[in-house]
Amino acid sequence: MDVIEISNLYFRYSKREEYLLKGLSLRVRKGELLAITGESGCGKSTLLSIICGIIPHIRKGEIEGEVKLFGREVRDMAIRDISKEVGIVFQDPDSQIFLPTVEDEIAFGPENLMVPREEIGLRIERALKAVNMEEYRLENPNNLSGGQKQLIAIASVLAMETDILLLDEVMSQIDEDGKDKIKRTILNLHREGKTMVIVDHDIDNLSLADRVLELKSGMLREFKGW
Ligand SMILES: Nc1ncnc2c1ncn2[C@@H]1O[C@H](COP(=O)(O)OP(=O)(O)O)[C@@H](O)[C@H]1O
Ligand SMILES: [Mg+2]
Repeated sequence: MDVIEISNLYFRYSKREEYLLKGLSLRVRKGELLAITGESGCGKSTLLSIICGIIPHIRKGEIEGEVKLFGREVRDMAIRDISKEVGIVFQDPDSQIFLPTVEDEIAFGPENLMVPREEIGLRIERALKAVNMEEYRLENPNNLSGGQKQLIAIASVLAMETDILLLDEVMSQIDEDGKDKIKRTILNLHREGKTMVIVDHDIDNLSLADRVLELKSGMLREFKGW
């Protein structure tokens, strides 16, 4: 079984006449590092929001077709259960980070899932190790650089210990040094078997992927434009 299975997906935002996604299909294998590119506005973030259930659970729209995680239809799952399978990191780390210390930030998700204290401590350690930021555990995220904040945003999602990680343009506001660190983290996670979908309009950020697809006219196709 593929971990993400989408078939014949049609989607449009409410009050929009045109469909943004038009019969899109996608299968992602366990452990795969898949990249999706496409011009700004083509629907990349929308597609990730559908995979992680933000649409239709939180943001509304007209949606048809199948979207399955581990064989279960996402629209039939509770948000709580979806959050145990898939995590998402967005472009702007400031939109995801709001607590006074790095460790509070990373603990927030697992605390909401009632993970026991001791286990949360271990998860904080593992997540910080994965992004190579162990020495920043007690730091205030506001004192970190953009790239470091993004690593903490990634660590916060890693602490949920989901099998699937979605990364939406996570390198686009980050300097070269920060990008290298994020890429190294992605490759390490890939080696450990995490299933990842990374999205970027800049194909230079996607060369690390096993497979690159292009979203165009509401469908995915093999990307041939290197
Ligand atoms: N909540 C929304 N309501 C209506 N239209 C939206 C909404 N969010 C995004 N859009 C529109 O959908 C299109 C695709 O957006 P998006 O998925 O963010 O594209 P991308 O991530 O590829 O840049 C854009 O035209 C955008 O303006
Ligand atoms: Mg986007």
